[in-house]
Parts: sequence; C-alpha cells; structure tokens
Amino acid sequence: MFIESVVGLAGLVAAALFIYGLKAMSSPVTAVKGIVTAGYGMVLVIAVSFLNIFRTTPEAHPHLLVNLGLAVIAMVLGCVWAGHKGRTVQMTEMPEMVALYNGMGGGSAAALAAVALMSSHHDVNLLHLAITFLGALIGCISLTGSFIAWAKLNGTIRKPTRFSGQRVFNCLVFVVTLVLGLFTIFSYGSPVALLPGILFFIAALFFGVCMTLPIGGADMPVVISLYNAFTGLAVGLEGYVTDNPALMIAGMVVGSAGTLLTVLMAKAMNRSLTNVLFSNFGDSSGEGSGPEGEMKSVDASDAATSMNYASSVIIVPGYGLAVAQAQQKLYEFVKLIQADGVDVKFAIHPVAGRMPGHMNVLLAEAGVPYDMIYDMDDINESFATTDVVLVIGANDVVNPAALTDKSSPIYGMPILNAYKARQVFVIKRGQGTGYSGVQNSLFFQENCTMVYGDAQKVMAEMVEAVKALGHS
Ligand code: TAP
Repeated sequence: MFIESVVGLAGLVAAALFIYGLKAMSSPVTAVKGIVTAGYGMVLVIAVSFLNIFRTTPEAHPHLLVNLGLAVIAMVLGCVWAGHKGRTVQMTEMPEMVALYNGMGGGSAAALAAVALMSSHHDVNLLHLAITFLGALIGCISLTGSFIAWAKLNGTIRKPTRFSGQRVFNCLVFVVTLVLGLFTIFSYGSPVALLPGILFFIAALFFGVCMTLPIGGADMPVVISLYNAFTGLAVGLEGYVTDNPALMIAGMVVGSAGTLLTVLMAKAMNRSLTNVLFSNFGDSSGEGSGPEGEMKSVDASDAATSMNYASSVIIVPGYGLAVAQAQQKLYEFVKLIQADGVDVKFAIHPVAGRMPGHMNVLLAEAGVPYDMIYDMDDINESFATTDVVLVIGANDVVNPAALTDKSSPIYGMPILNAYKARQVFVIKRGQGTGYSGVQNSLFFQENCTMVYGDAQKVMAEMVEAVKALGHS
C-alpha cells in the first residue's frame, strides 16, 4: 500500500515536472532550464519503476537478480553512449538523433508488451490484452519507421522506394498484422497462440518499414514527430498494462506533445498529414515549371557595403545557415553594421531549417540578443519599409510562389515577405532549390541580387569588407 502510494505520487510529481519543463521550453530564455527540469522528471520515473518490483511477491520475479543486473548494465551503456552523443552531435544532425532515440522508445514499449504477454496469467482480461497488443503494434511501427527515417536523414537510404500498387500492398500488410494480433488475443493462453504472436510482432515491424520507405527524405522531420507521438502513445498504453502510473503519464505527455508538434509543423507548411505521408513532396527537380528570367549576382563586398550604408536591415536565416555554421560570422557582421547605426532585426519563419526552433538555437549559440529576433507575424509588416533584406541560406520560406502560384506544392504556406523590401540579397552556393524542390520566384525579381558562395565564406568576406570601410 505504501509503495503504491509512493509510485502514484511520484507519477504526479513527474507529470508536473514534464509539464513545467515543456512550458519552459517554449522560450529560448528558459529552454535549457525546461530540458533539465523534464530530465529530473524522467529520472524520477525510472527510479520509481524499480520500486514496482516490491509491489509483487518474490515468486513473480524468479530471476530478479539477473534481470536487475541486465537492466543496470543496459542503463549504464545507454547513459554513456547518449551522454557522449549528446555532447558531440552537430546541430544539423539533431533530427536523425531524435529519430534514433524515438525509435528506441517505441521499441522499448513493444518489448514491454512482449514481456507482459509472456508473463501474464491465463485469467488476464480481453481489454488488457487488446491494450497490450495496441501498444505493441504502435511501438513496433515507431521502432522500424524511425530507423528508416534515421537512415533517410543521414543519407544511408538515398531514394524513396516506390512501386505500383504500393498502397494496396501496405494496406494488406496492415490487415495481416491486425488479423495476427486478433487471432493471438482470442487464442491467448493456448499453445496455438505462440506462432501468430511472434508473426504479429514481425508483421508490425515490417509495416513500420513499408509505411516509411515511400515517403521522401525531405518530409522526415514531420514523420519523426509523428512517430514521436506514436511512441508516447505506445509507452502510455504499456504503462497501463504494467500498472505503472508514472510510465502512463510520461507516455501521455510525450504522445500529446508529439501530436501537437506534428500538427503545428504541418500547419506552418499549410499541409495536411495525409499530404505529408502520401504526396511525394520535395521530389520534383524544380526544372520546367519555375519562373523565367535571369538571376543577377554581386560579390560579397559590394553587398556588405550596401548594407553598411542602409538604415534598416532584416536578416532571414534558413537551413543553409545551419549547414554552413555561419552564425558566428553573421553576428560579427551584424555588430559591425550596428556600430555604424544600421537598425538590424532577425526574422524567423516557424519552419525555417529542419526542426522547430532550429534558427533560434543557432542565433542563440552565436549570442544574438533575443530582442533582435522576431517571429513571422510580428515582422511581416516591416519588410515593405525596410531598406535591405539579407536572406542567408533560406529559400522556401521566402518564396512568393507560396502566395501566388496555385500550382506550386508550397501554395498556401505563409512566407516571410522579404520580396517587398527595397533591396534583397540572397546568400546561397548556387541555383539549387530548397526543401520543396521548387524554384524561387524571388530570386528573379528586379529588387533581388544573389551573392553566391558558402554562407560562412561569404560572411567572412562581408566582415572584411565592412572592416575595410573603417572598422577595425
Ligand atoms: P530550404 O528551403 O531548404 O533552403 C535552404 C537553402 O540553403 C537551399 O536553397 C540551399 O541552396 C542553401 N544552402 C545550403 N547549404 C548552404 C551553404 N553551405 N551556404 C549557403 N547556402 C546554403 O530552407 P528554408 O528556407 O529554411 O526552409 C525550410 C524548409 O524545410 C521549408 O520548406 C519547410 O517546410 C521545410 N521543413 C521544415 C521543418 C522545420 S520544423 N523547420 C520540418 C520539415 C520541413 P544552394 O544549394 O544553392 O546553396
């Protein structure tokens, strides 16, 4: 009774820590504190899970010492590996790392279900069994789906795998998985349940692969967020099955946060989830249907000089800034022109980069004060009255085709109104398209000039150019 109360109370405290942590993560000022707070919640949940052992009789744990030893070894290995990876991972590799961790969460939920099924007594009720199987199904899909997402993001799988009749095939795999699950549930306890039970797990793992293979690599961040929601749900269901309220609450918090994030990402791109899962977005080569004309270009020093003599500059960072790791040089340049009286602001699109808050993190890393950073809705009116906009490594988030071209795959996505400024400079390496694979009509506008080169190299040249004007 005492242990049950402690477990229940710990679940509530952990939930409060998670919710407080999530709230704090919504602002860059308090984000680190939020992550640490949620981490304490997780430590509490893990510690309390060990207490669960004392809620049952010793006969229920015939291999207690061996199992505890294995759990501790797994935890030590996991902590050492994750601690090392967490410290050394590049910002651009974050989505793939999240995919990997998320997959492991789904796999853990599926493993919990397998253990619960093997150790359950014959008098277990139907609802309990159905929930165990649902958690196992979702956990397996999340495990293999996330691994495929990870392989796509790091380039191990380069092309989406598609064949005719693929949707029908995927539906069949899903139906077979469900049938195997139902058969196992209704024959549970008898020896005939073993084989379909094993086949159910294999089929569910296979369905995760089938579901993810045809989706383009570009859509993986949204898919990972969806699988994150799946993992949370699976963990929550298994928390119910293993009678662990802390796990249930942790799973529900992850599940709802993942669902919200998926919805917000899709909404910020003006796309539905079905469009993300089935539309082959980002596969177009960008050739043939794009705007006509020529892109003008200028060298870095001329663009820098022009910004130094402007009275207002808005900087629009995008994915290329992260690739080039040019944030430090960018801010060095900004400080130089600010010293010359230029009013500089940063404009952040909600889906700039490849994960939520990507640009905010980069700018915070370079020490850019938060009061210089504006969200899209707060700054969009200002572009029309701004002298110069510097677009650095951004593409889709400033593409006016999203407002005007109904045939464009990004039509309807809100954009930063950079095209309205008097002069726009765009730093990018060449004429490559962005994430969506469509050409950007802004680059062909009269008021737009390209500055070709790697963003870090271009920014270094700009810094030198402004210094040569009188700064040292
Ligand atoms: P993108 O549209 O992907 O454009 C990035 C541009 O950066 C490319 O055109 C590329 O052109 C340039 N670039 C790459 N490496 C560079 C380097 N080293 N130096 C200079 N430029 C470089 O980026 P965006 O404008 O940030 O838009 C984000 C896109 O990702 C949106 O379509 C959004 O829907 C999607 N997305 C975002 C998220 C989240 S949550 N952020 C999630 C899923 C999808 P070059 O190759 O010519 O250099």
